[in-house]
Amino acid sequence: MHPIAGRPLEIRRITDHDDHERAGRLVRAAYDALGDLPEDDEYLDQLADVGSRRADADVIVALRDGRIVGCLTFVARADSDHHEFDDHDATSFRYFGVDPAAQGSGVGVAMVQWVIDETRRLGRPRVRIHTLREMVAAQRLYTRLGFVRTPELDEDWDGVEGIAYLYVVDGAEVAAGLGSPPV
Ligand SMILES: CC(C)(COP(=O)(O)OP(=O)(O)OC[C@H]1O[C@@H](n2cnc3c(N)ncnc32)[C@H](O)[C@@H]1OP(=O)(O)O)[C@@H](O)C(=O)NCCC(=O)NCCS
Repeated sequence: MHPIAGRPLEIRRITDHDDHERAGRLVRAAYDALGDLPEDDEYLDQLADVGSRRADADVIVALRDGRIVGCLTFVARADSDHHEFDDHDATSFRYFGVDPAAQGSGVGVAMVQWVIDETRRLGRPRVRIHTLREMVAAQRLYTRLGFVRTPELDEDWDGVEGIAYLYVVDGAEVAAGLGSPPV
């Protein structure tokens, strides 16, 4: 059991008072720690730039004992530059990382659960994401939470494989009268 597992976690939107640099640094560190990703300093810098991302996206942080330990960007609108799917009913999330020192203590699951709960709250029927082949811990986490593979929406970004997943929110179509069935 991770020594800090079980301690209370707060998951919420980032505010002006939060340490944006720390949030960005830990996303970059989480991706860096994967090791076998293609070298792309420009993308790593983009990952770390939470301050800019906040201007046009919903940056979500996880805090334990007041310290940011996880960060992701929630993408509610399909017309956002951060949305990668041609599906206007779907929400998404990107740039997701947990401080390597806090990994394995439940932060990741809690953050993805936040996304699912927010998607349901918005009356939206599904969440779509891409992950990378190398992100095996993330893939286990998504599968455990009920995401399923949608290989027809996989991407190839100049040799970098984007692996597509879908989460269908229970009852959301019925509740909101929204949405066509997932492809
Ligand atoms: C993917 C990622 C965000 C997951 O974050 P995390 O905080 O480690 O996730 P969790 O702790 O919720 O779950 C990870 C593992 O810890 C285990 N765990 C969670 N809480 C636990 C607890 N209290 N006690 C023991 N184990 C626990 C989970 O069961 C899970 O185990 P698994 O190996 O069977 O999957 C993190 O690994 C990361 O930053 N990876 C690099 C970047 C990345 O891949 N991002 C995804 C972009 S799509």
